[in-house]
Parts: sequence; C-alpha cells; structure tokens
Amino acid sequence: MTDRTISLGILLSGRGSNFRAIHEAVETGRLAGAEIAVVISNRPSAPGILFAEEQGLETAVIQPKSFPHREACDQAILDMLKDHRVDLLVLAGYNRILTPVLLKAFPERILNIHPSLLPAYGGKGMVGLKVHEAVVAAGEKASGCTVHLVTEDVDAGPILGRCEVPVDSEDTPESLAEKVLAQEHRLYPQVIGKIVRQMLAGEAIGNTEAIMLS
Ligand code: GRF
Repeated sequence: MTDRTISLGILLSGRGSNFRAIHEAVETGRLAGAEIAVVISNRPSAPGILFAEEQGLETAVIQPKSFPHREACDQAILDMLKDHRVDLLVLAGYNRILTPVLLKAFPERILNIHPSLLPAYGGKGMVGLKVHEAVVAAGEKASGCTVHLVTEDVDAGPILGRCEVPVDSEDTPESLAEKVLAQEHRLYPQVIGKIVRQMLAGEAIGNTEAIMLS
C-alpha cells in the first residue's frame, strides 16, 4: 500500500453539481486516495466556485477575457494546476474546449462527463439541454451519461464509464436532464475512483475497461 494521494484539479463553469458529488465522495472516503487540490472556474459567479470557496478549498477564477488568445488562457490554468501539483484534471461542467496547451500537459489525465450515451449526441455545440432536446425529438428509448478521456476530438476520447437511463414517452428534455444528472452524480465519482486506483498502481489509463452502470 502507498500513502500517495492523487491530486485532483477541477475545472467548472456553472452549477457545479458534479463537483459537489465528487467533493462529497472525497469527504466521505468513497473516493479514497484522492484529494481536491484546486477548483478553477472561468466564471466568477458560478455557483460551483462559490461552493468551493465556502468549503475552504483552493480556488481560482481565470477569465478568458483577460487573455489575448485561448492558449494564453489555458497556459494560466496550467500554471495554476502546476502550482497545486495536480495529477488528474476533472472537467465538471466546463463550457470551454481545451487547447493543446492543456491536452499535451495532461496526456490521458483529463476526464469529462457528458449527458448522453457517447458517441451519440456528442460533439461541438451538443451541450446542456440541447442534448436532451435532440434525444427526445429523435424518440430514443434510452439515453444516459458517459465519462471519457478528453482528447483533441470533442467528446470522442476513450470511454471510461457509462450509465444508461430509460427515456419514457412522457419525458421532456427537462425531466430527462434531471434523471441523467442524478446518474452523473453516481457515475463520475466511481470512475474517478477507479482511475485514481490505477494511477496509484502505475497502470495505463487509455485502455481501461469502462464501468457500466444501469
Ligand atoms: C452536466 O450535465 C455534464 O454532463 C455536462 O455539464 C453539466 C454540468 O452540470 N458536461 P453541473 O455543473 O455539474 O451541475
């Protein structure tokens, strides 16, 4: 056994309910071997960053408008992550696409959660309620959420975990969003826990067998 801990860096933009679920899992010992080293938001008023401040966590607001281009903004984020010795970067409702500045600094070390069964209903512009509107409009019988490694192709990195959610005939995009979100809160901490254990064991992450919840 090692007493090493994997330091998580969280990037978020809004509500932060996935971040809260991860935080709770760390606090209650369900996510053993991990600690939250820093929480970074691009929006100063994001409820997620306000919650992190209330919890006494290390936080930072890094706003794109303060930088001449996306790479410079990502470099500032990278500097902050390095200052906090972050091992694993967790996107939790972060509404920006990462540049190679971050992707190259954290190969196979950036996770994201998406509110559909990827590869369906993913990619640029497929965010928030739009995902659930498209699923309901297509008459799908099932949707869900997916945790994946972040690569240059948006929402297309290796899949690390999925949870299926049935779509009922009376579901609206809003009701489906709520059902999927509840499962995101189950899935994300479990996948992070598995990745943390693999990192502590020195195992590669890229070809990890995905966690499938239902
Ligand atoms: C979630 O639906 C997640 O799948 C997507 O953005 C949303 C973030 O919600 N990437 P929250 O901020 O974690 O509540």
